[in-house]
Amino acid sequence: MRLDIIFIHLYWLDYKYRPTRVSQNPTTAPSYHPKPSMDILTIVQQWPITTALVIFSIFYIFLQTLKSSNSSITNSSLPPCPPKLPVIGNLHHILGKPRHEALWQLSKEYGPVMRIYIGSKLFIIISSPAMAKEILKTQDHVFCSRESFKATKRLTYNFLDIAFSPHNTHWREMRKLLVTEFIGPKRAKLSSHVLVTEIESIINDLSSYSPNTEVNLSNMFMEIVKQMVCKVAFGEKYRRQPVKGPSWDVMLEEAMELLNGSVGDSFPILGFFIDQFSGWNRRLNDGFRNLDGYIDALVDDHLKHDSGDMSEEDKDFIHTILDMSKQNASGYQPNHADLKALVMDILTGGIDTTVVTLIWAMSEINKNTRVMRKLQSEIRTCAGKIQKVSELDTTNMTYLKMVVKETLRLHTPAPLLVPHVSISQTQLAGYDISSSTVVLINAWGIARDPCTWGENAAEFYPERFENVDGDFGRDRFEMMPFGGGRRSCPAMNTAPTNVEFVLAAFLYWFDWELPGGMKCEELNMENGGTLVLGKKVPLCLVPKKHNWEDD
Ligand code: HEM
Repeated sequence: MRLDIIFIHLYWLDYKYRPTRVSQNPTTAPSYHPKPSMDILTIVQQWPITTALVIFSIFYIFLQTLKSSNSSITNSSLPPCPPKLPVIGNLHHILGKPRHEALWQLSKEYGPVMRIYIGSKLFIIISSPAMAKEILKTQDHVFCSRESFKATKRLTYNFLDIAFSPHNTHWREMRKLLVTEFIGPKRAKLSSHVLVTEIESIINDLSSYSPNTEVNLSNMFMEIVKQMVCKVAFGEKYRRQPVKGPSWDVMLEEAMELLNGSVGDSFPILGFFIDQFSGWNRRLNDGFRNLDGYIDALVDDHLKHDSGDMSEEDKDFIHTILDMSKQNASGYQPNHADLKALVMDILTGGIDTTVVTLIWAMSEINKNTRVMRKLQSEIRTCAGKIQKVSELDTTNMTYLKMVVKETLRLHTPAPLLVPHVSISQTQLAGYDISSSTVVLINAWGIARDPCTWGENAAEFYPERFENVDGDFGRDRFEMMPFGGGRRSCPAMNTAPTNVEFVLAAFLYWFDWELPGGMKCEELNMENGGTLVLGKKVPLCLVPKKHNWEDD
């Protein structure tokens, strides 16, 4: 293979394959574009020693790859693998398409357990409910760790968080803390109070708009979720913007992009140079510095205000964890860095996923007028005539729950979940899997597979969940938007409830129309993003205050 081809591939991987997430609000939120860096020719001219090292590294990796591909041919107990190329492995199979779609296509040929090499890095790809169950339930005790990538290490203060921590006692204690102090029933009252207040204020705003005003629901949902998560975690007076650096939205978007990984994660020696020269390392340092500065300021604000005389109800998540770090109780005592890592998890795990679910749900509802009519009828009948958002009770709205489930099936927010890693050697469908193997579960493909979901798998049809028993991700694995097993999302029960509540409120008080006479089938449903699959084009709709006389 010619070196220039390798360079072009790698250059392309870092620049062109970086997800371009369209800013939710092009007018206000500064959009993020890949930062221009030095091109390869300039590097070669200006850095002769480094270029020599890079070339040496390429040959080294080339030999290593040849060695490993030869040995794998003879080993029939490994899962099938599409033909790979020296140095880049199977990179050419997935470039140019969204990763989950390319891997799903390959699985049609190579089966539900397949091997893929990105550079020299091995991934096992899982593409069937039966194999997902094997990983997330039957062998959950084996596939329960996480991989160490450069960005995850840095952004989680060296794996002190939950989502990217290896399987150890620290992870268990941190997960317990998040569940009891942030997600669980203890904060439920506060969360629902914040949610009600936010929605009330938005409904008042929407009611005052002149007729036919188009609103950007993508922005609106982001604002609601951000307020809910941040007020519960950081208190009423949380900082809406960092003191220095980019805006809140840009800072978070950058963190999500960095978590996608770098070339260095898959090409150990060569990748180091590519990350350095492409400016990726600098982006990581800047991104981390901005987020860390913001979190530091949040914690400092809390340290300055003694929470001693506050009631338990008034304390936010940071107050509670800081109190725990001071106590000499026998339980787990989180330190300052643990707290910062937890805040990082809340920011990166709790906001985007909920926002995209709301956006996709409202998009599908507006695209499918039959669903919209049936859903609004259920919501308005169940709720009766109410005046306040706090009076809205979604408990008995069964169709609404099916609509949210169908949204999570068709628009699985994290298409490949978070990579799982084996902690010991094992067998999977008769294949040998060694310890520390990274496993990607194609939750996106599994949830849309016509073999499981029937011919209408690609259709938005909430009724398919009528009479379906069992919990997805616990006892059944035809879809798993929250993953499964011990590494499943700790918010898998609460997140859908919040989504249901927001949708019910928006659909109870308003009827919605597509702007400018747009037809349902013209609504743009393209995906954007990699780690979390959002809607590429913001969702804009026209609200009409519901007229009860017309019912
Ligand atoms: C609709 C909303 C959400 C979706 C679809 C979602 C989805 C997921 C998925 C797919 C995983 C990986 C599971 C696996 O690897 O098997 C995960 C993990 C996680 N999620 Fe969520 N999530 C949502 C909301 C939240 C919220 C509100 C929080 C709160 C902070 C949260 C915190 C976490 C954490 C901490 C983990 C890591 C768990 C571990 O590794 O032990 N998520 N989530």
